[in-house]
Amino acid sequence: MKTKIISYPNLIEAKSRVKTETEFSAYSPIHLNEMKEIGKGKKYYIHTFGCQANIRDEETMKGMLESSNYVETNKPEDADVIIINTCAVRENAEDKVYGDIGNLKKYRKINKKLVLAICGCMVEQPEILDILMKKFPEVNLYFGTHEIDQLLDLIYEAYNSDIRLIAIKSKQGEVIENKNVKRNNEFKAYVNIIYGCNKFCTYCIVPYTRGKERSRQFNDIMDEVRELKKEGYQEITFLGQNVNAYGKDLNEGHDFADVLEEAAKMGIPRIRFTTSHPWDFSSKMIEIIAKYDNIMKCIHLPVQSGSSEVLRLMGRRYTREHYLSLVKEMRSKIPGLSLSTDIIVGFPNETEEQFNETLTLVDEVKYESAFTFIYSPRRGTPAAKIIDNVSYADKSRRFKELVKHLEANIEADSKRYIGGVYKVLVDGTSKTDKNMLSGYTESNKLVHFKGDESLVGKIVPVKIIESHTYSLIGELVNG
Ligand code: 5AD
Ligand code: SF4
Repeated sequence: MKTKIISYPNLIEAKSRVKTETEFSAYSPIHLNEMKEIGKGKKYYIHTFGCQANIRDEETMKGMLESSNYVETNKPEDADVIIINTCAVRENAEDKVYGDIGNLKKYRKINKKLVLAICGCMVEQPEILDILMKKFPEVNLYFGTHEIDQLLDLIYEAYNSDIRLIAIKSKQGEVIENKNVKRNNEFKAYVNIIYGCNKFCTYCIVPYTRGKERSRQFNDIMDEVRELKKEGYQEITFLGQNVNAYGKDLNEGHDFADVLEEAAKMGIPRIRFTTSHPWDFSSKMIEIIAKYDNIMKCIHLPVQSGSSEVLRLMGRRYTREHYLSLVKEMRSKIPGLSLSTDIIVGFPNETEEQFNETLTLVDEVKYESAFTFIYSPRRGTPAAKIIDNVSYADKSRRFKELVKHLEANIEADSKRYIGGVYKVLVDGTSKTDKNMLSGYTESNKLVHFKGDESLVGKIVPVKIIESHTYSLIGELVNG
């Protein structure tokens, strides 16, 4: 198969951060009408790996495909378009993707007109793209995180030719509004407020794969929130690699605290946000979170390490002391605050002492939940060039020790819920018992309790009678 390169990723270009104002344009597929014909009676299958940004991208792609009459299927063997939306943040995420493509590629042999597409963060790295192209000649479309708005046009071209298409540009990036969306949930929604990341933490590939920070215009965000409120959504989560940097690239005078406040005033019952970088977290943001009942008292505040020296090598721009004083300010101004975090163990040359500083920080902050990772070198990032003297066995032992500390704290903390009544947004029923419901408290604790299926999507009071590390057991109050 011949290859047509529309654009190819380039890590040097991906790293450039020329100070330019964010550009905006409206979504306008060239081949929408033709796609309506192609899409009739056809099916698509999407498999998404990774973070909420990828999940939200999946919702956009579904919306676009359905605007051209494609219907979703969860059986890849029935699909006319298969899209694998990849994650590059750690090696094990990439390994899962290789396995998935390996399983799905056979469908191109069965259906010669199948469009088999790979998108997402993995393909933004030139060396990974080279490997994918060699390993999987069956794949006939690669597109990047900046080409999602061109999905219909790219599928049209891939479908109508025998050419393998590559459309992955590493440009600064723009914001394209009014793209279609088919949300995965009817009462909880993700709302992008800022794309990309300018932080360049030394271990992280995301700034290269998702481009520079581009904030959406304030009014566009608010229009989306207003629409969600009208549609009856109970919970929105503002999304960004670093939501606290919102507005810095615009000349609008609005910051993240303004986004939170304006949305809170609209009366959506639950407002959440992720992820927050400690460096940009302002006192104004803390005050707004404290002021409005419908902004959840829940902050995901990745610390990554408890050692100031490791944080310096990670390029995190804060010290242990700065992080702890931020937590102190948050706790003093936001009663009942629940904190969660991300932690990396085994950063190159991390000493036992530095690791112990992570343990003491974890014991001091008392997180209600945490995502923990063993450091995974990402080619092209500065940390990947450091020669590492820590064995994998040591890293893995530290990882287990950290999880033990976190779990002991979480388990002890969970007990405080027993006897209390908490508002729970009901997510769904148990797979095995329709009368067993599950949902989340405002502080994001998972609760299981008996109740009728009709409560799904509603916020109900639940009395907690039992606690486990990762979940609570409760009873519905008033029936
Ligand atoms: N190795 C391990 N963990 C990583 N993360 C990001 N890059 C790496 C890496 N190279 C983790 C960080 C980040 C989370 C989304 O993934 O903790 O906050
Ligand atoms: Fe990666 Fe750091 Fe940006 Fe988060 S803030 S996406 S860890 S570079």
